[in-house]
Amino acid sequence: MSSEQAALLKDAERIMANADSAGTGLQRICDLIRSRIPGCDWVGFYIAVSTRDELALGPYSGEATEHLRIPFGHGVCGQAAATRATVVVDDVSTEENYLSCSPHVQSEVVIPVFHNGEIVGELDIDSHEIASFGRERRAFLEKIAGKLGEALASLMPA
Ligand code: SME
Repeated sequence: MSSEQAALLKDAERIMANADSAGTGLQRICDLIRSRIPGCDWVGFYIAVSTRDELALGPYSGEATEHLRIPFGHGVCGQAAATRATVVVDDVSTEENYLSCSPHVQSEVVIPVFHNGEIVGELDIDSHEIASFGRERRAFLEKIAGKLGEALASLMPA
């Protein structure tokens, strides 16, 4: 991990430890990632609605999106939820199972987040650059996402 990444991870931990609520903490994490990692142009969380096998849009930073609810299996977000695995799309124009938010987006990463072994949500990041999420960056983002399980779980509908 670079020293910049280590500092960012510390900031993320501090934000969550000091947040008044899970929602405000996660909102600040979106803003943190978007402002500190070049090429992260839309950063948001989807919350798992497990009873309905769908995702609901949570805190995000960037342009408004029409995708407020996404069934498991649909789009890149739905694929990551259905497979419980990170999905990286280097060029969204080649991805058939893709839900477009903005014509500017060229690559995307979706990282499922777990709590007590259950999927509780996802970190979704769009980039206006091709192939923005290489192995190293993906691993770092997974590290951040791995710290947010409890917060995302608390936003799930009962
Ligand atoms: N592109 C996503 C939809 C969510 S937006 O990126 C905010 C998908 O294909 O699931």
